[in-house]
Amino acid sequence: MVIDELKQNCIPQHVAVIMDGNGRWAELHGNDRIFGHRQGVDAVRSVVEGAGELGVKYLTLYAFSTENWDRPKDEVEALMALLINAIVQELDNLNDKQVKLLTIGDLSSLPADVQLKLAEAILRTSNNTGLHLIIALSYSGRWDILEAAKQIIHKVKIGDIVDDQLTESVFVNHLSTSGIPDPELLIRTSGEYRISNFLLWQIAYSEFYFTPILWPDFRKENLFEAIIDFQRRERRFGKTSEQIRS
Ligand code: FPP
Repeated sequence: MVIDELKQNCIPQHVAVIMDGNGRWAELHGNDRIFGHRQGVDAVRSVVEGAGELGVKYLTLYAFSTENWDRPKDEVEALMALLINAIVQELDNLNDKQVKLLTIGDLSSLPADVQLKLAEAILRTSNNTGLHLIIALSYSGRWDILEAAKQIIHKVKIGDIVDDQLTESVFVNHLSTSGIPDPELLIRTSGEYRISNFLLWQIAYSEFYFTPILWPDFRKENLFEAIIDFQRRERRFGKTSEQIRS
């Protein structure tokens, strides 16, 4: 079993995933793109379960980017409906598994009913103590950094922050992921080698894992494989190998 190869003392705290390939998966199966997104929900369920089993504390899924608003209107509408229905339908399951739901992104741009249902779902899982499942919705890394900059400029103007107090840790506290450790591992499916405006600040020292598997085929065993690969790497953070080993 793949899971037996995992070192339990070296599980990443935070795994981020760019779920890609739903459209191509649908095309391969002679169906429309929405069908691919629908199958993608099975992959989400399996990966959430697997992350919880391993004791991963944070799992961030890139579900809808700022740029995804430019997709055809019917695909955007179907994706919104699918996302919110999946979250509502999985609520009992999330609560059983102690999963705490969070979101990052410009939620104000989502349809009002989606915002409302999301807020309800977040509230209903707010006391859970297991995996934090962070759904990135209408999210982009540049948006995140720009929003942080705007908040900081405002605080400087009103005197809450003085210029020389603006350190890296102050900046980090204004990102949408404030309080959440940076992902140690970033996975992208579907054989694309891009970051696509995901967590740009937060992935400064993340390990990247690219797999040709299309998202609807991705399962928790594939997550375990990615983590085994991660565990074989030496993370040096700019230091030398000798410094890390001593
Ligand atoms: C990328 O594939 C996938 C998306 C833009 C949407 C991801 C959404 C889901 C998997 C739905 C369920 C999510 C949750 C959190 C319940 P693509 O359409 O870009 O595929 P392509 O590159 O093959 O066209």
